[in-house]
Amino acid sequence: MTDKKYDFDQILDRRNTCSLKWDFCQKILGVSGVIPMWVADMDFPAPVEVVEAIKKRAEHGAYGYPFIPESFWNSIIKWMKKRHDWEIKREWLSRAPGVVPSLNICIQIYTSPGDKIIVQSPVYYPFFSAVENNGRQIVKNPLIYKDGRWQMDLADLERKIDGRTRMLILCSPHNPVGRVWGQRELEALAEIIVEHDLLLISDEIHEEHVYQGHKHLPVAALSSEIADRTVTLTAASKAFNVAGLTTSVVIISNHKLLNLYNTQMENLGLTTGNIFGLVALEAAYTYGQDWIEQLVEYLEGNMDFAHKFFEQYLPQIKFLKPEGTYLALLDCRSLQLPQPELNEFFLKKASVYFDQGPIFGDELEGFERMNLACPRPLLTEALQRIEKAVAQFKTR
Ligand SMILES: Cc1ncc(COP(=O)(O)O)c(C=O)c1O
Repeated sequence: MTDKKYDFDQILDRRNTCSLKWDFCQKILGVSGVIPMWVADMDFPAPVEVVEAIKKRAEHGAYGYPFIPESFWNSIIKWMKKRHDWEIKREWLSRAPGVVPSLNICIQIYTSPGDKIIVQSPVYYPFFSAVENNGRQIVKNPLIYKDGRWQMDLADLERKIDGRTRMLILCSPHNPVGRVWGQRELEALAEIIVEHDLLLISDEIHEEHVYQGHKHLPVAALSSEIADRTVTLTAASKAFNVAGLTTSVVIISNHKLLNLYNTQMENLGLTTGNIFGLVALEAAYTYGQDWIEQLVEYLEGNMDFAHKFFEQYLPQIKFLKPEGTYLALLDCRSLQLPQPELNEFFLKKASVYFDQGPIFGDELEGFERMNLACPRPLLTEALQRIEKAVAQFKTR
């Protein structure tokens, strides 16, 4: 750790910067002055080393096809070892313009139309569209919400696997329920995957945002058997707020699976990459350790702050503190507002915009997903707005 202290309290004006999160509310929903707490990006600038690396490359002026240097791959290898104690090899690595594109590629190359693919709902909704839009069948293995915690239902999973089942898409850590899966859970899941000869696509994009008492475990690091049938998808994009630079990482130790993946990348003309994304990832993974540690501490502070606020001033809404990710579920069922009115209520009466729970699955009817990756003064303002709107709603 260096002594440098980052100031995450600074408000960054992101309006009119081609920001989906900020400009959507005004330009598409037609409501101004909204605090956007929906799509998963952060209201913090990337670490200064990342910004400087991009500036330096931009100043060069020529932006022809990139050649990916070995230092790019080495930065990923070192980061995975340092942060996740995972020894990966250069020959396991590939990349993509994003986790969602590579998820779609995996479905296209490793399964056939009509095959069954399991998702653990409620879950990041592009998992559903990736399966359906590619003509595969979704099989839901819903998570169970028990004693305030979401858990995998492995008995249900085993019952649902049949001769047509080919793949399971894991979200680890899990968006939107915020679970950081423990070793036992992952081992039990891996055992089922191996026993039934399935492929595991593990989306680990939220792996850097994990709170005290929890540790992210890359599922492919558990054993060689599970590694042999796992494709790990990750990126520096959530961690360092560089999603607009369209660069993600693919880790596959099984060379047959990797060759298939790389062939499809070539077919789609996707092998070169975004020059700024390459520069940003390398700078983030080379210099970003200190920044990320302080950021995670700050984000956990936001979680605790919001948790207390809801308990004290808004007990009608239950804040489910996540174990990881900067996203939290709000259980708003006691307001008895069906969707989409619930979402409209927060937008129109409180001027905050959330993602509606049911877009992640029917299991989240009556829930909203709140993105807390913002400076605390902005979070405070949002919470006060919600408190006021709910107080007025109660006295209607
Ligand atoms: C679980 C998960 N996977 C993937 C993504 C998006 O990844 P990408 O922008 O690399 O396609 C998100 C963004 O919210 C996410 O939450």
